Amino acid sequence: DQTIHIHPSILSADFARLAEELERIQNADAVHVDVMDNHFVPNLTLGLPVVKAIRQATDLPLDVHLMIEDADRWAPEYAEAGAESVTFHAEAAAAPIRLARELRARGAKAGMALKPATGVEPYLDMLAELDLLLIMTVEPGFGGQPFLDVVLPKIRRAREALDGAGVPVALQVDGGVTRETILRAAEAGADVFVAGSAVYGAEDPAAAIDELRRTPLR
Ligand code: DX5
Ligand code: ZN
Repeated sequence: DQTIHIHPSILSADFARLAEELERIQNADAVHVDVMDNHFVPNLTLGLPVVKAIRQATDLPLDVHLMIEDADRWAPEYAEAGAESVTFHAEAAAAPIRLARELRARGAKAGMALKPATGVEPYLDMLAELDLLLIMTVEPGFGGQPFLDVVLPKIRRAREALDGAGVPVALQVDGGVTRETILRAAEAGADVFVAGSAVYGAEDPAAAIDELRRTPLR
């Protein structure tokens, strides 16, 4: 039974008015927070102090997406900061199974992300260690990029593996999600959708969230 969850990305919000920007997405399922370190990706956004401030400024669950090197060292700190879920990149983790367990031990949901060209197959045996699998549908680093259809077969394979294993892992997509592309991602089996520009680029972000959530499912 597939339910659509919408996680607006504050990367597309006005960073000088974060509290107000959070108010505008009160109907979201969670707020997606993109942490970038200018090493794993060629962009620098925000880190632990700002995540802690966001935690204080909203009752929405925090879905933290770490686009940073040395995830093993830093991800647990975001769990301690009160994130509901912490997603590290498989490409940046030296010991992803240990790290996922560490996140759960600190009370957060464990998420793992794959860049567009990273295969899901090497990770199929560790799905039960995760609460969330994030399949990037753009190269991470920036909002406002077009959705990569080339990733759709991987989403389908991930959905089949999750259903086959019977493990309750959320299948999240991030990058280029719009009212049009969300259909294809949902059809492929995703159930959590990050949307930056599609939400904050709209006149009424809350209405944009509701529209995305009304995506018709098969
Ligand atoms: C990209 C980030 C995304 C980004 C999505 O590296 O991980 O979360 O904010 O923005 P849109 O929806 O505009 O592609
Ligand atoms: Zn993201």
